[in-house]
Amino acid sequence: MADVIFRNAVVIDGTGADRFEADVAIEGDRIVAVGGAVGSAPLEIDVAGQVLAPGFVDVHTHDDGALLRYPGMEFKLAQGCTSLVIGNCGFSGSPAVPGRREPSGLIGVDPTWDDLAGFRETVEAVGPAVNAMALVGHNTIRSLVMGEGERRAPSDTERAEMRSHVRRAMEQGACGFSTGLIYRPGRWSETDEIIELARESAAAGGIYATHMRNEGDRLLEAVDEAIHIGTSAGLPVQISHHKSAGRRNWGRIGASLAKVDAANASGADITLDVYPYTAGSGPMAHYFDLDAIDAELAENIRFASCPAFRHYEGRMAVDVAAERGVPVTQIIHEVLIAPQGDRTLCIQFIIDEADIEENLRHPQMMVGSDGIPDLKGQPHPRLFGTFPKVLGHYVRERALITLEDAVRRMTSLSCDRFGFSHRGRVALGQFADLVVFDPDVVLDTATYDEPKQEPVGIELVMVNGQVALRNGIHTRSAGGNGAGRMLSYRLP
Ligand code: ZN
Ligand code: CU
Repeated sequence: MADVIFRNAVVIDGTGADRFEADVAIEGDRIVAVGGAVGSAPLEIDVAGQVLAPGFVDVHTHDDGALLRYPGMEFKLAQGCTSLVIGNCGFSGSPAVPGRREPSGLIGVDPTWDDLAGFRETVEAVGPAVNAMALVGHNTIRSLVMGEGERRAPSDTERAEMRSHVRRAMEQGACGFSTGLIYRPGRWSETDEIIELARESAAAGGIYATHMRNEGDRLLEAVDEAIHIGTSAGLPVQISHHKSAGRRNWGRIGASLAKVDAANASGADITLDVYPYTAGSGPMAHYFDLDAIDAELAENIRFASCPAFRHYEGRMAVDVAAERGVPVTQIIHEVLIAPQGDRTLCIQFIIDEADIEENLRHPQMMVGSDGIPDLKGQPHPRLFGTFPKVLGHYVRERALITLEDAVRRMTSLSCDRFGFSHRGRVALGQFADLVVFDPDVVLDTATYDEPKQEPVGIELVMVNGQVALRNGIHTRSAGGNGAGRMLSYRLP
């Protein structure tokens, strides 16, 4: 007998197929019936008029540490997300040296583990509300083996050691290898170093996910490099948060996507993700050269987390500069050299709205928030709003893509790419990761001024057969158990 039945659901099954009406039955952690006679269950929920879809997968997160710091993961559940890919942009929670904090500040916890197996155990002990799949990050590995400040190529011994870290992570269930080639120390690596490490992922059937070396003036060269790495190492490539940054580069998304299409037509396997906002966000120290502060970028910076000057959080650097009567570049400089200045997270307005829409129309484009989970500051609203913004704004208001297609890019496309086995579809035998939402209401409410607001229209979220969110109540945060799991690549 089923444990839970959703009655009269409008099923959008995740494959891109048209919606249909059906009752859906859950037993344990699996879907046991979609349509037909489903019997009865102790918990029956009438969802007439609402969409029932596979839980959304946030393919681009920095939630490695958040799984431990905020195990209720309210900011993800509230968007309808049931699974995350962690370890993006070359920064991953493992490998690690116990007690030594990852230098980027993106992970934000002191590790007690040294590898993915240890990280998995720690996360599972906490019982987070959502599932997670891990990438192993190049910046993390390079810092561990060579230090954060080494601008040289690795020695043969160091190469071997870095390779063994990737291999070990893949053996322990990672889905692939990630880079962040604008960040330290990844930016000092040559292409051949990346190819060599990506081969270890390829050997395990894994993927390569990349925050490319350049997303502005040299975007197209960076796409060439990503394609070259994929082809040389022999593995699929995920281009992370695809964008053309900086006003003078706006409108070049089409040229970049054309390169991807051409490569795919000649046998490469490249997919992408995007966040639906015109601002990026990340560790500010990585974006500026202290000796030559980029004035155009400085003018477009807003402070998200600023431990050195908490009262700057939520403000544009130009406004702080005007108030103080000094150049904006001076404000950036002061923040960066202050104690904990390297812990500053900023929001940079660098993306064109038309480019976002062009990205969202591309058939291989997934959705990834790239949210940075520091709830102490004033984070980028994408942390709370990404998925409902796509559904409410880009689908309902802008009619850019169909609802079925949007759901596909948040579910089956993502699960197939990142190796989530038996997830991403409403079908018999799939895990019961589900979201129920009102297609006429769903919308983000998080703004740059009020970023920590949960979206509207997400009625219910189920993770592994357990109700995780219903009527605005987060089960785990209300004292229940988290049903999330650390997943392994292509294993159920
Ligand atoms: Zn990135
Ligand atoms: Cu990222």
